[in-house]
Amino acid sequence: MKNIIMRCAAVLGLLFCTGVLAFGQSAEQSGLGKVLVLYYSYSENANTEKVAEITQGLTNADIVKVEPAAPFPEMEYRQFTQWAKDRQQQEAYPPIRDLNVDIASYDFIFVGTPVWWGLPSLPITTLLRQTDFGGKPLAAFSTAQGGPGTAVSDIGKQAKNALAKSGVNFNNVASDSQINEKVTTWVRSLQR
Ligand SMILES: Cc1cc2nc3c(=O)[nH]c(=O)nc-3n(C[C@H](O)[C@H](O)[C@H](O)COP(=O)(O)O)c2cc1C
Repeated sequence: MKNIIMRCAAVLGLLFCTGVLAFGQSAEQSGLGKVLVLYYSYSENANTEKVAEITQGLTNADIVKVEPAAPFPEMEYRQFTQWAKDRQQQEAYPPIRDLNVDIASYDFIFVGTPVWWGLPSLPITTLLRQTDFGGKPLAAFSTAQGGPGTAVSDIGKQAKNALAKSGVNFNNVASDSQINEKVTTWVRSLQR
């Protein structure tokens, strides 16, 4: 009987240790600490969302989509691009929904945007204008059809109180495997 109890205790101890080790690993899995991915995506293809999700998977991150507080007016895509351009020129940035996250509790933040007329999208500009990133490292990414403009560097410059890390633009005509590879190489470079 004593033998059985001792064996059970040993098995339980092993399970506990494995659990603790596994837990410890997942907390530090990314090498970047506790990671938050903030992104906006507009088009049906959700190009920026795809990059955001790959980044999340690689870093064990929390992920939050930045959303305008009121949905953008429904219009045909080409018309929308013009509407967005006018808004950018007027600096008429839309209010965004509460993110419901405590930025201060994260060690590393990713911010992703589609490129709009060479710049970060409207909701991401609002995010940058109203958020204090608390001195945290921040890496930007964008997706574009062809012309990346300055969206990635703009995010780095405009993010208040952030330590800008190297960002990347993804061309949305790249294949899924090319995107996967590029995100992985980039994230690994940030982990060093
Ligand atoms: C308002 C607007 C402006 C855009 N401006 C550009 C641009 O300047 N350069 C570019 O390459 N693509 C531009 N695009 C295309 C998007 O950047 C591209 O399709 C992006 O991958 C979309 O990401 P999403 O699917 O996450 O919305 C624009 C799209 C919209 C809606």
